[in-house]
Parts: sequence; structure tokens; C-alpha cells
Amino acid sequence: MINFFAILVSITLFVNGCTAANLVCFFTSWTVYRPGNGKYNVSNLPADLCTHVNYGFVGLQEWDGSLSILDDWEANGLYELDHLKALRVKNPDLKLVVSMGGWNEGSEKYSHVAADPKLRKNMVDSVLEFLDKYEFDGFDLDWEYPDQRGGEEEDIENFITLLQEFKQAFAPKNYILSVDVSGGVVSANTSYHIKELGEAVDMINVMAYDYHGAFEDYVGHYAPLYASHMDESELQRSLNVKSGIEFWLSRGAPAEKLNLGIGTYGRGFTLADPKNISLYAPMSGPCTAGPYTREAGTIGYNEICELYSDYTYYWDDEQKVPHIVKGNQWIGYDNALSVQYKVEFAKSKGLGGVMTWSLDTDDFRGICGDGKYPLIRVMKKLLNQ
Ligand SMILES: *[C@@H]1O[C@H](CO)[C@@H](O)[C@H](O)[C@H]1NC(C)=O
Ligand SMILES: *[C@@H]1O[C@H](CO)[C@@H](O)[C@H](O)[C@H]1NC(C)=O
Ligand SMILES: *[C@@H]1O[C@H](CO)[C@@H](O)[C@H](O)[C@H]1NC(C)=O
Repeated sequence: MINFFAILVSITLFVNGCTAANLVCFFTSWTVYRPGNGKYNVSNLPADLCTHVNYGFVGLQEWDGSLSILDDWEANGLYELDHLKALRVKNPDLKLVVSMGGWNEGSEKYSHVAADPKLRKNMVDSVLEFLDKYEFDGFDLDWEYPDQRGGEEEDIENFITLLQEFKQAFAPKNYILSVDVSGGVVSANTSYHIKELGEAVDMINVMAYDYHGAFEDYVGHYAPLYASHMDESELQRSLNVKSGIEFWLSRGAPAEKLNLGIGTYGRGFTLADPKNISLYAPMSGPCTAGPYTREAGTIGYNEICELYSDYTYYWDDEQKVPHIVKGNQWIGYDNALSVQYKVEFAKSKGLGGVMTWSLDTDDFRGICGDGKYPLIRVMKKLLNQ
């Protein structure tokens, strides 16, 4: 009896020990063009921070299904792919993954290639060639999203077929196959056959953010962990991390293959009435662009902690996330405390780990007084506990 119990305990410890382990960090190629303290390149990336570094993004050529390097400088002198490879000297366990797609690549090209057996084969061959050439460990497909944004219903099956063909081709070399998927219940329900997807890939990075933003016409947090009492409709109550992850699990995704996506950024609004700062308050547009990320409506955590200290801080204890307000600017984001709640949540569900978007908007220079990468280090610390 005692022995049996001891075995059970050690199995549980073993399972927990390896399930809460993935820390997938996105490296984005365009951040080298940012000004001042916002400029980020591979030399800023410590080799021992993450278990996987995903290079984002490469693209897909619709006419032949081949992989294309999107950054022109990369191929003619920047060589960040080689710099990433050099991180292995310091950390031989680091996995390098090349990520294809992303929001700006759209959905239609992927829909077209996935529907055609010849193009699918070219795509698989082209990715294999890339992995061999750059000595990467795996491939991550970020198709946003099957059967959405110009895609069609057949995408859902074709996506699985494509992934199964990748899996088969990767087997002899043991390459990692992962996907980035929507963390929204309605969106995930539209785009994926979850059970088959779970069988086809090694890891599923759930993009559990961008639930709200200036693409709507009212104020909302971009990545609440839990619903708010102000969420009224079923749809509103489903737009949060917990609902998204529970949906993926309830449809048969293996918990140990799911990585919970956590942002190191935020989304903001320009309030229509600066006196109304509550959730669902009317807004007149995105927040003003930050000096590093330079895109109205999204702000990096590094910008917030370095430059927005004169904003008033609020903690939403229902949603377990912070926001800051000044005048007509309202910004919801993630900080060390909300990251802590999210990682604990991921562990409580037995997930494989977390994914973070992205390295370049954490306080990677350690300007704000909590050391370098304060958010990603919270993830690492809690995952290893
Ligand atoms: C990358 O960053 C390092 C350190 O900040 C810098 O010395 C180097 O010039 C940068 N490389 C490029 C290509 O910008
Ligand atoms: C998922 O989609 C199906 C049909 O497409 C629908 O009947 C079902 O209600 C949806 N489920 C959720 C949770 O949205
Ligand atoms: C803020 O806006 C919401 C949504 O329009 C409204 O229900 C609420 O009464 C407003 N609150 C204040 C203080 O104006």
C-alpha cells in the first residue's frame, strides 16, 4: 500500500515536473527597427530564459507553397537566424522554432495551399529544407485563421491534413510541430477540429489575448483571466482566458500539449468621455501610439513601466488584470501580478506550459528596477516551482 502510494506520488511529481515546463518565447524580426530603448535584436536575448524561441515570422508563397523569409535585411546581412543558432552554445537545450504566418499574412494564401496536395507537399519540403539549412528544431504554423478572414469551410479539414503531412515528414528527424491558435471560444469553435488537431501536433500555443481592443467600440481588457460582472451576453462572458482554455480542454485538446499564451503588452483606447473609465465605457478610437511600438492601440509593457508612470493604476480584482488611465487614455495590460495569476491558472489545469508574445516588449533592458525581463522571469520561476 505504502509502495503503491509512493509510486503514485512519484508519477504525479514526474508528470507535474514535465508538464509545467514549456516556456515558448516569441522573437519578432521587425523589432530591430525600433528606436531608442525599444530596439531589440537577438543580442538582447538571454539563452537560458526560455525553453523554446520562436522566430516570427516567415511567410508562405501562394503560387508554389514555399517558405519565404519576409525580412529583406535578414537574407542580406542581418542574419538573426544564425545569431539565434549561436544561443545554443550557452544553452544546448534551447529549442529553436521557426514560425510561419501571423495576422499580417492573412488567411487566404493558407487556405489555397492547404487545399492542394501538390502545394502542401511543396510547403512541407520547403520547411524541411529550411530546418535543415538553419539547424532549427521545429516549425510553428500561425494560420489566422482557418475558415475565417477569407478562408472557407474546407480549411478546417485541410488544416488537419496539412499538419498530419508535416508530422509524418518530421518523424525521422524528430522535428517539433506546433501551432498558434485562437483563445476565443467562438473563433476556436469556428476554425478547428480540436481533437484531431491535438493528435496531429506536439504543442498548441493558445493565443489567450486580444479578446478586446480598439477593433470594438467600447473599453475592455485585452486579456482578462476571468469574466467581469459587467459581461452580460454569453459571448461577452466567454471572452477571457479561463473560458478559452476550458473550451480547448472540453473539446479534447490534451492539456499537456497546450501552452497558455500570455502577453507582455497591452491594448488601449481613447475614451469618448474621460469621466467614464469603466469597462464598456464608450471610446472614440485606439490609444495614442507608444514611442517604441509605434502603433495606435497597442503598447508594450516596457513602454508602460518606463514612460507611463504618471498614469493612475487600477487593479480589476474580478478579471485579475491591471489597467492604467490618464485623461482620455485607458490601457489594459499584463504586469507581474496578472502574469502570476495566469501561470498559476495554467498549472492548475495541468497545461504543458506557457507561450509569451513577445520578448521585445518585456522590460528587457531592466530599466524599471525589477531586473531584465521581469514578466518572463515570473513565468519561468513559477513554472519551475
Ligand atoms: C543588436 O543589438 C546590439 C546590442 O544592443 C547592438 O550592439 C547591435 O548593433 C545590434 N545589431 C543590429 C543589427 O542592429
Ligand atoms: C460551435 O459551433 C456549432 C456549429 O457550428 C454550434 O452549434 C455550437 O453552438 C458552437 N459552440 C459554441 C460553444 O460556440
Ligand atoms: C459609462 O458607460 C457605460 C456604457 O455606455 C454606461 O452604462 C455607464 O452608465 C457609464 N458610466 C458613467 C459614470 O457615465
